[in-house]
Amino acid sequence: DDLRFAARVIREADTAVAMTGAGASTASGIPDFRGDDGLWDRHDPDDFHVSRLDRDPGGFWRDRLALHDEIYGDAIEPNAAHEALADLESTGHLDRVVTQNIDGLHVAAGSEGVVTIHGSGQRSVCRDCGRRVPAEPVRERARDGELPPRCEECEGVLKPGVVLFGESLPEHALFEAQSLAERADVFLVAGSSLTVEPAASLPRTAADRGATMVLVNLERTPLSDRAEYDFRADVTDVLPRLRDAVVTG
Ligand code: OAD
Ligand code: ZN
Repeated sequence: DDLRFAARVIREADTAVAMTGAGASTASGIPDFRGDDGLWDRHDPDDFHVSRLDRDPGGFWRDRLALHDEIYGDAIEPNAAHEALADLESTGHLDRVVTQNIDGLHVAAGSEGVVTIHGSGQRSVCRDCGRRVPAEPVRERARDGELPPRCEECEGVLKPGVVLFGESLPEHALFEAQSLAERADVFLVAGSSLTVEPAASLPRTAADRGATMVLVNLERTPLSDRAEYDFRADVTDVLPRLRDAVVTG
C-alpha cells in the first residue's frame, strides 16, 4: 500500500527532510492556527504583528502573555509524531526536521537536526541591542506587571524570540532550510496548512528539484495535488507507522 511505498522512498533516499507545522503538536495539547477551532478563529493575528510591538508594546505583551498561557497552560510533552521523526533521524533515515513550531517539542523528543525557521519560544530578544535571554523569566516579569519587559543591559523593549507577522525569517535558518529543500530526495510535510510563506515555498522548491513529496495532514493543502503521497490523516497515526515501515524495511 501507499505507506509501504512512501517508506521505501524514504529508505532509499540520500537526503530525506521533514517539515512540520502546528498540526504536529496538536496531540500535545497545543492548538493549531488554522485547523478546526484554530487560534486565529479566537484571536486577531494583527494583535501579534510586529507593528503592534512598536505602537503599543505594553498591550502587545499583555495579549501575548494571555495567548501563551492559554496555549501552554498545562505542561506539554512530545507526542508520537515527534517521537517517530526523532526515531527516523536516530536510525539514519532522516537528515533534518525543519519546523515552523516554536514549542521546542522536536528537541524534547530527541531530534538533533532541528531547523527552527520561525524562531523559538524559549528565548526573548532585545529589540535594541539584540541580547538574547531565556524567555520564561521575562514572561514572569511581565506577569508581575513589567509591561513591556525591558532589556537589563540597555532598557530596550524585549521581543519574544519567535518570528512575528511583519518580520522576516532568521536568515541563517531560512538559508539552511532552503538548501535542504534544494538537495532533498524526499520532502515530508507533517501537520502544516502550507499557507504561510516562505515556509510553504520549501516543499515547492523540493518538488521543483525532483524530490518526492509526502504530505501528512488532516486537511487538503495547496500542494496536495503535487504530492506523490498525500495522507489525509492524523500525524500521530501515520508517522509511527511510517517509521515502523522504514525501519523494519
Ligand atoms: P496551521 O494551523 O496553519 O496548519 C496546521 C494544519 O495541521 C491544519 O491544516 C490542520 O488541519 C492540521 N492538523 C492539525 N492537527 C493535526 C493532526 N493531529 N494530524 C494531522 N494534521 C493536523 O499551522 P502551520 O501550517 O504551522 O507563524 O502555520 C504556519 C504558521 O502560521 C505558524 O508557524 C505561525 C502561524 O501564523 C508564525 O507565528 C510566524
Ligand atoms: Zn538591550
